[in-house]
Amino acid sequence: MKTIGVLNGPNLAQLGTRETEIYGTETLEDLEQLLRKEAQTLGATIITEQSNHEGIMIDTLERWSKQGVTGIIINPAAYSHTSVALRDAISGLSTPCIEVHISNLYQRESFRQHSLTAAVCQGAICGLGFTGYVLALNALIQQSNPTSLTHQKADAVTSK
Ligand code: DQA
Repeated sequence: MKTIGVLNGPNLAQLGTRETEIYGTETLEDLEQLLRKEAQTLGATIITEQSNHEGIMIDTLERWSKQGVTGIIINPAAYSHTSVALRDAISGLSTPCIEVHISNLYQRESFRQHSLTAAVCQGAICGLGFTGYVLALNALIQQSNPTSLTHQKADAVTSK
């Protein structure tokens, strides 16, 4: 069965009470439940983790990649804007990663408008709330399907 890892970074365990005008009132548990249901309808499964620690997040990425997960959804939160170490970790993975942010970074402070990590992810989604995670999940599952165009394109590039 296809497995997608969902890794949430610092302060995202406080969803539901943290800056609700920006992040809404739904909790991390609500998010994980939503994704578990969506994965089920896609015939897949998810594994989830939240950490406030950069090194733990890197260890998780390495572990999931070694486990052979199909893809990874990552919200590195504040580390997106600061962490070269996390960027290097993502960059070294052969597993496709999609970065998601709940809020629209481009409507916020200028320091949030650059992500070190998004540049080494396959794609990035921001500003769509929890829907961004659902879209990322669908994209990772769809492109892992051998008949998907993205998959064929990737094969064509690697066979050159
Ligand atoms: C966030 C945006 C980051 O700038 C911030 O530090 C977060 C959450 C988001 O999901 O919108 O903690 O990643």
